[in-house]
Amino acid sequence: MSRVPGPRSPAIVQTLLYLARPEGYLADCHRRHGDVFKLTTVVFGPEVCVVRPEEIKRVFTGDPDDLRAGEANVALGPLVGSRSVLLLDGAEHLRQRRLLTPPFHGERMTAYGRVMREITERAIDGWLRAAPGREGAGRPPRAPRGARRIVLHAEMQKITLEVILRAVFGVEEGERLDELRAAMLGLLEQVAKPFSMFASLPAFQHDLLGLSPWARFDAARRCVDAVIYDEIARRRREGARREDVMSLLLDARDEDGQPMTDAELRDELMTLLAAGHETTATELSWTFDVILRNPRVLHRLRAEIDGAVDRDRLPYVDATIKEALRLHPVVPAVARRLKRDTVVAGHRVEAGTLLVPAVWLTHRQPDLYPDPDEFRPERFLGKKPDPYAFLPFGGGIRRCIGMAFALFEMRVVLSAILARVELEPEDRRPARTVLRGFTHAPRGGVPVFVREREVSRAAVRPAASAAAATQVPGV
Ligand code: HEM
Repeated sequence: MSRVPGPRSPAIVQTLLYLARPEGYLADCHRRHGDVFKLTTVVFGPEVCVVRPEEIKRVFTGDPDDLRAGEANVALGPLVGSRSVLLLDGAEHLRQRRLLTPPFHGERMTAYGRVMREITERAIDGWLRAAPGREGAGRPPRAPRGARRIVLHAEMQKITLEVILRAVFGVEEGERLDELRAAMLGLLEQVAKPFSMFASLPAFQHDLLGLSPWARFDAARRCVDAVIYDEIARRRREGARREDVMSLLLDARDEDGQPMTDAELRDELMTLLAAGHETTATELSWTFDVILRNPRVLHRLRAEIDGAVDRDRLPYVDATIKEALRLHPVVPAVARRLKRDTVVAGHRVEAGTLLVPAVWLTHRQPDLYPDPDEFRPERFLGKKPDPYAFLPFGGGIRRCIGMAFALFEMRVVLSAILARVELEPEDRRPARTVLRGFTHAPRGGVPVFVREREVSRAAVRPAASAAAATQVPGV
């Protein structure tokens, strides 16, 4: 039986090639070595990437004792902590997953929807208030008349951070929210740096008198921890129960009737904050980057949003979000660590290797998606995607817990923004991909010029941004 083909260069060279051109390097490896190939990086060691749905199905439906996702996610440990659902396997993982899933069930979305809309509308108000001509803010040299320049990724981050803080912690306006927001932003700034990829490697975990990237990351993390532990203590003391995720977690009991410990709570809260905010913000930025360069799609989106009567169904908006997730999956690959030697498409793969459904490559296969580099939301209209060919949220028993929440949030944010403002990309060319932590993000963050939409005052119905409050999207 043959070994898995793949590049022979040293791990450090492969790592640097991936860092320099994340998508280009994956595409080159696939072209040269085929549908199953082996990469070796300094962070993850040997990984066998699988591209075809048949192989991906075997990974997602295989025995989780042989295919350990928690062990594969160790690189996230410094951020989310060792008791995070992301890092657990087996019975412990199932226990935590059962505790965490109910707050993200479809029927709870209506409650979160109100918060999501409020936050988005307020963000739009802020852009328009600060637009030149209103408060006399200076117009950047290339900005069209009456427009203001914003960087969408930064703006989407503000929205999704606010949403997750309110949904998870239930904190309203005020000092506590400000404290949490500031601490989280400080930490996420560190996580976005290329260094964070290496943070799990002991060789990088040196303080160097507080000057090293690790020291800065550690200080930012401790800041967030302090606020989270403080909030846990306060909520336990007060005992008041509310509708937010934290209340549900404080109340949750496992099958032995045991509540979560403070340390478990901290790790899960951090997981939800980190996993739930950055990913959604980045995906929204990609979505805008592609739709703003595609007048046909934009026109159809606007027609659907402006014309919806009760706004509980926006099928074209949902299809557009799925197509953006296909073309630009923020999480470009998911991984399982093999516990036993196995055979993958006729190749021998040793225990200890990572088996990696290569999400980004699968989404670009021409037989699965004709003209795969083209942006065509119609592919998903009225169709349920194959879970082994469309996997932006991973799959099997590890599929993203926040999937319904993220799809719902993207629908609310996208439709509210398109209903009210015109956005014009500053850069004529589509954004290139850059690594942000382990995610694929649009380089430059998608700068745009924003101005009020003429039609928005007259034609948009009052319920415009109450879009889709009732029907929860799924894949
Ligand atoms: C566009 C937004 C998002 C994307 C693309 C995304 C993607 C993913 C992916 C690829 C995984 C790994 C799945 C696997 O290994 O098979 C995952 C896991 C997870 N995600 Fe998300 N996610 C998003 C938003 C969210 C949100 C909003 C939350 C919560 C508020 C969340 C919470 C989680 C959790 C807790 C896990 C771990 C599940 C487990 O290990 O059992 N994610 N996500």
